[in-house]
Amino acid sequence: MDLGTTSTAGVLAARHDEAMRLFVALVPPAEARAELAAAIHELPAPPRLRWTRSDQWHLTLAFMAEVDDRTCRQLVERLDRVARRSPPLELSLAGGGRFGTHVLWTRVDGDRAALRRLADAVRAAVRRCRLPTDDRPYRPHLTLARGGTPANDLAPLVAVLQGFAGSTWLATELHLVRSHLGAGPGGTARHETLATWELTGRHRPITRSSEADDRHLT
Ligand code: 2AM
Repeated sequence: MDLGTTSTAGVLAARHDEAMRLFVALVPPAEARAELAAAIHELPAPPRLRWTRSDQWHLTLAFMAEVDDRTCRQLVERLDRVARRSPPLELSLAGGGRFGTHVLWTRVDGDRAALRRLADAVRAAVRRCRLPTDDRPYRPHLTLARGGTPANDLAPLVAVLQGFAGSTWLATELHLVRSHLGAGPGGTARHETLATWELTGRHRPITRSSEADDRHLT
């Protein structure tokens, strides 16, 4: 473990003594999020839909419901190795789709093969820490909204989103994020970035712990 990773683990040890809800993600730059925000501004808003917050939009590569501090340190070390091996990715956001009647998303285009390889490597790292994670094939997407019950008809929103084609951007960083359920405004989740690594092939971890409120439960 090099110095950067040690200090990341130190941050984790100092801050967490309970099971954590974590996810690993890429984050589109502000310009890409602004384009997407403008596109979804045009969408009709069904009443039982909770929109995700644009300043917290992310591409989830793996989700872990319950992680203890020791396992989190192992995960940090393994993700460090994954990030070191992975190059930056050229990506864009475009179109739309849905998972059933409950999740509305926009598609991730561009270097999807490399993105899939990165997601697979992240998930393999998660499994090596003996943490359960999604076994289904990775489907590159960014979640825009989640529906409640009874279900909304998401098809008209998907149809409008088909016209959206965002600019290409370079994903250069991998993030490990903690979701604090119920800790945001109105009982929603707050996201806290625990660690960030650059996808440059050379190891340059950025140790920081930034927090932002998430007005929409994720
Ligand atoms: P997704 O929206 O891309 O599917 C933070 O909560 C992120 O973790 C969410 O944006 C979601 O990613 C993913 N996530 C949350 N709960 C999950 C669950 N129960 N199973 C799988 N992924 C989950």
